[in-house]
Amino acid sequence: MKLTLIVLLGSSLAATTLGWKYHYTDTTMNWTQARQYCKTHYTDMVVIQSQEENDYLVSLLPNRSGSPYYWIGITKNHMNETWTWVGNNSTWVGNESWAENEPNNNHSTEFCVEIYVNTNKNRGKWNDEKCSNQKYVVCYEAQCNATSCGRGTCKETTENITCHCELGFKGHRCQTVVECPHPPQPAYGHFNCSGGNQTFNSTCELTCPPGFLLTSPTSITCEATGSWSGPRPICTIYKQALLAVAGCGAFSGFCCICFCWMKHRKRKKLTQVRQPEEETSPSSEVHG
Ligand SMILES: *[C@@H]1O[C@H](CO)[C@@H](O)[C@H](O)[C@H]1NC(C)=O
Ligand SMILES: *[C@@H]1O[C@H](CO)[C@@H](O)[C@H](O)[C@H]1NC(C)=O
Ligand SMILES: *[C@@H]1O[C@H](CO)[C@@H](O)[C@H](O)[C@H]1NC(C)=O
Ligand SMILES: *[C@@H]1O[C@H](CO)[C@@H](O)[C@H](O)[C@H]1NC(C)=O
Ligand SMILES: *[C@@H]1O[C@H](CO)[C@@H](O)[C@H](O)[C@H]1NC(C)=O
Ligand SMILES: *[C@@H]1O[C@H](CO)[C@@H](O)[C@H](O)[C@H]1NC(C)=O
Ligand SMILES: *[C@@H]1O[C@H](CO)[C@@H](O)[C@H](O)[C@H]1NC(C)=O
Ligand SMILES: *[C@@H]1O[C@H](CO)[C@@H](O)[C@H](O)[C@H]1NC(C)=O
Ligand SMILES: *[C@@H]1O[C@H](CO)[C@@H](O)[C@H](O)[C@H]1NC(C)=O
Repeated sequence: MKLTLIVLLGSSLAATTLGWKYHYTDTTMNWTQARQYCKTHYTDMVVIQSQEENDYLVSLLPNRSGSPYYWIGITKNHMNETWTWVGNNSTWVGNESWAENEPNNNHSTEFCVEIYVNTNKNRGKWNDEKCSNQKYVVCYEAQCNATSCGRGTCKETTENITCHCELGFKGHRCQTVVECPHPPQPAYGHFNCSGGNQTFNSTCELTCPPGFLLTSPTSITCEATGSWSGPRPICTIYKQALLAVAGCGAFSGFCCICFCWMKHRKRKKLTQVRQPEEETSPSSEVHG
């Protein structure tokens, strides 16, 4: 009979899912069968990636006084290959992982690994074994799935899962869209927002009452930071706008007139200065 012990990491699993679950069997099988068993019922054979994970796993497994112990998901196919974890080909092997004098590759046929869960100094250490031997197995069940992190990517850890949110989303599980404050009430006109809300990517367009002119830009967009983009659109009273244009025109006209007048005067002055010279030069020529 298989004993399926679901190890709950952290508190209640019912409401929130915290990290992957480990499952172990109380029947023995060879390594190939064991891997198949894990892949059929859970995600895969256990993958250990740090000393902490190793210690943690050992603390969850029942103590055994002797062989057989538990298969773990690290293996190699041939003699001189690197020890490689199943699933993602990681080659992590800690400095203190192997038991003393292991891996010994007895008879050059030991390409699979068991973890000791006894009560002596070898507790938690690894031993290479013949893959055809019969042992218990530890499997893991991934907790990340397509829906774990609403609008983000899910990353699995021993104790927890963490969500890395897409731009414009926030929250523990990236379940909340970033929202901008209500667009400020303009002096004139009103904002119409796409989708009727002020969430990330919403565009609010300003509509001006009759007799008003809309200055560019005409809309604001809710950015991922939760603030509105760019300068605010403004409604300007048509008359005022006209006056402003006229005023500006009048002012530049006035400036132009001034400028022309001054230029004219300068020219006149110059001609006045030059005139006597012109008058005198021919006379001096005559005299010379
Ligand atoms: C692991 O390595 C094997 C053999 O080189 C390859 O077939 C497999 O696709 C690799 N798996 C991953 C997840 O990289
Ligand atoms: C390999 O997979 C394990 C379990 O899914 C994960 O903890 C580890 O970070 C992965 N390692 C690499 C190098 O991808
Ligand atoms: C090597 O394997 C044989 C059986 O295949 C066993 O009798 C012997 O004790 C093993 N030696 C070591 C050092 O584990
Ligand atoms: C297993 O043995 C270790 C070391 O002797 C001990 O600390 C631990 O409490 C034991 N675990 C169980 C479940 O009995
Ligand atoms: C594991 O057991 C199965 C079924 O008994 C057998 O077909 C397979 O060859 C065995 N594999 C190893 C590596 O011993
Ligand atoms: C996906 O994971 C979440 C928590 O991470 C869990 O609540 C949900 O039941 C899972 N969905 C499926 C289809 O496995
Ligand atoms: C899991 O991680 C989240 C942050 O991603 C944190 O708020 C929560 O307290 C963690 N839970 C546990 C049990 O560590
Ligand atoms: C908010 O508006 C966007 C369009 O800008 C729309 O896609 C989304 O469904 C709306 N959300 C709600 C809660 O109404
Ligand atoms: C936000 O708008 C940009 C540009 O229109 C689009 O590429 C992107 O997919 C949108 N994102 C969301 C979450 O709606």
